[in-house]
Amino acid sequence: MNKVVLVGCGNVGMSYAYCLINESKVDELVLIDINKSKAEGEALDLLHASSCSKRKIKIKAGDYSECSDAVIVCIAAGRNQDKGETRLDLIEKNLAVFKSIISEINKTKFNGLYLIATNPLDVMTFATMKLSKFPANKVIGSGTTLDTARLRYLLSQQLNINPKNIHAYVIGEHGDSEMIPWSNATIGLTNINSFVNKTTKNRILKDVRNSAYDIINKKGNTAYGIGMCLRNITDAILDDSNTIFTVSSYNQKLKTCIGLPTIINRNGVREILKLEMTTEEQQEFNKSVEIVRNITKNLKV
Ligand code: 2OP
Repeated sequence: MNKVVLVGCGNVGMSYAYCLINESKVDELVLIDINKSKAEGEALDLLHASSCSKRKIKIKAGDYSECSDAVIVCIAAGRNQDKGETRLDLIEKNLAVFKSIISEINKTKFNGLYLIATNPLDVMTFATMKLSKFPANKVIGSGTTLDTARLRYLLSQQLNINPKNIHAYVIGEHGDSEMIPWSNATIGLTNINSFVNKTTKNRILKDVRNSAYDIINKKGNTAYGIGMCLRNITDAILDDSNTIFTVSSYNQKLKTCIGLPTIINRNGVREILKLEMTTEEQQEFNKSVEIVRNITKNLKV
């Protein structure tokens, strides 16, 4: 039984839930929210939608005891950025939220995988690992999967090529210091340098970094992109598919959680892939790691 418990029925959580009921490997979805009535209403709304969807899926609102036999607990709870805020401005409030959620889950027999979607993403992934005392492979943050999706979208628009044939990644912090190791990027098998010049690369990186700010300014939050990325990570776990995503997980060498191309399966993180970068790219990546590590090393968890 592929059971997923979702904690946090806000825009991000419910976009994820909607993706799950449309198409996924999930058999049972349980919704938990601090506002029980909201979780119940969302469950009912999804149930009605699921009667029109292709796959049968059990959906209900529940409490933390539901985590005991879950394969995945996805946490999308906490505050979102307001206009003008960065993701890092959310640390204090969302850490308090996570402390209360994970202390409840710790009381259950939950032994599956954590999937984290709350910002600041890398910091909250680290906090989850510490608060749950789970091994590093069992705590996965959405990392820079969404940023990678944005990058591929922008490149596909620029080059008129299917995003599936664009092998380019965003790595580092899911935040303002994220970077693109262009030297590794290919279109099919051809190095990306044959397709885009430095000016275009700089513009695209800027656009990827500004995507969330732009959407938040226009509609107040971002939700569909992350919902779809979380669904893809969920299916890769449930399917034991050994798929590569730029998720965030604890990196023994770097001593923090950071987004890097990582092989994911039913046991969680199978392997964080080694990456050769130019000296310039390595310096940019190191700066991003340092920003996150400086926060996580002093985190009161
Ligand atoms: C995003 O990148 C806000 O982290 C969220 O859409």
